[in-house]
Formats: sequence, C-alpha cells, structure tokens
Amino acid sequence: MIAKEFSELIVGPVNKNLCNAHLIGLSFGYSQLMANVSLIFYLVIGAVLQKDDDTISGFHIFICSFVFIFASQTASNAQSYGPDITKAFLASIKIFTLMFTPTKINAIDEPPQKLLTVDHFQGEIEFKDVWFRYPSRPKQWVLKGFNLKIKANDCIAIVGESGQGKSTLINLLLRFYDVTFGEILIDGADIRSYDVRNLRA
Ligand SMILES: Nc1ncnc2c1ncn2[C@@H]1O[C@H](COP(=O)(O)OP(=O)(O)OP(=O)(O)O)[C@@H](O)[C@H]1O
Ligand SMILES: [Mg+2]
Repeated sequence: MIAKEFSELIVGPVNKNLCNAHLIGLSFGYSQLMANVSLIFYLVIGAVLQKDDDTISGFHIFICSFVFIFASQTASNAQSYGPDITKAFLASIKIFTLMFTPTKINAIDEPPQKLLTVDHFQGEIEFKDVWFRYPSRPKQWVLKGFNLKIKANDCIAIVGESGQGKSTLINLLLRFYDVTFGEILIDGADIRSYDVRNLRA
C-alpha cells in the first residue's frame, strides 16, 4: 500500500529528472562530438596548409591540433565556473562592505575622550524604560518599556519563554547593541558613558 503510494508520488519527479538526464546526455554527447569534429577540422586544415608549404611537418600539425583542443577544453571548463565566480564576487562585496562599515560601538580603539570604567563597580544595574529592536528587524520590538533594577550584591534569575528577550538584555548590558529608547544605568551612570572595552573585560 505504502510502496504503491510512494511509486505514484515519485512519478512526477522521475519524469522531470528523466527529461533533465536526457538533456545532460545529449549535451555531453554533443560536446564529445564537437571535440572530435574539431580535431578532424584541425587535421584537414593542417593537410591543406602542408600541401602549399613544405616547412610544415606532420609533427607541427599534431602539436597545433592538440594545443587548440586543450585550450578550448580549458576555456570551456573555466566558463563552467562562471556562475560560481559571480556568486563569489557578490559575496565578497558583502563581506568587504561589512568589514569596512565603521562600528557604532567601538570596542577596539582608544576612545577620544576619557570615559568611565567599572574598576570600582558597586554592582547596581538598572534598565529604565528600555525600548529595543534589532537593527536588522526594525519592525519588531523586542523590549517595550522594560524596567528592572538589580541592587548591588543581589543575585537574580531572568526567566521566560524562548524569544522573550533574555539574551537581548545581556547583549545590551555588554553594549553589543545600544538601546533604541530609554537607558541602562550601571551604578547610576548611563552605560554609554563607560569605556566599552572595560565593560566587556
Ligand atoms: N541578532 C538578532 N537580530 C535580529 N533579531 C534577533 C537577534 N537576536 C535575537 N533576535 C530576536 O529577538 C527576540 C528575542 O531573542 P532572545 O535571543 O533575546 O530571546 P531569549 O529569551 O534569549 O530566547 P531563548 O530562551 O531561546 O534563548 C527573538 O524574537 C529573536 O528572534
Ligand atoms: Mg537566549
């Protein structure tokens, strides 16, 4: 019963692939035919040229024929990489654009002005009316007016369903992203006034 249903279901894909297989077979046969036809063509041309010119030997014709055949084969092989080359080119543009896009939150270079450090960290963290959406999904708010105050030395757990924004809170705390609205305070000072390098150390 199952085998019958299965064989009925695969009739469509089999017919479709059968057609493709025939096309591939034909094109392969055609390319082989053309390789042999071109060899005959070069040999005939060589023979005609040799008739009028005594300096051309059979050896020359042989060498020239193979140079042409291998060159055309290599050129056609290289051409088959055409679509991949285009894809690689477009991908490299994306990679280099990403690499050369200046980051809004620079965690590598020395900041231009003196920033706060968390050397004397007391430990109070406050999320104050935080609104946040990821730049890649500007229509979806992850945090909408989120408030949370964690007192120094308090140990808390953030629980919630998957996709509710728990990891996002940590991403914001380490300044992988900046809040869209609202503020995050560490020991009463806005997180943006801290040196990011020190914040993540
Ligand atoms: N880098 C990102 N770009 C765009 N959207 C993101 C990104 N990271 C997370 N999101 C989206 O933000 C929302 C909150 O994700 P988050 O990872 O903070 O949830 P979570 O509570 O940590 O989930 P889980 O319990 O599965 O770890 C989800 O809808 C998620 O799809
Ligand atoms: Mg998570």
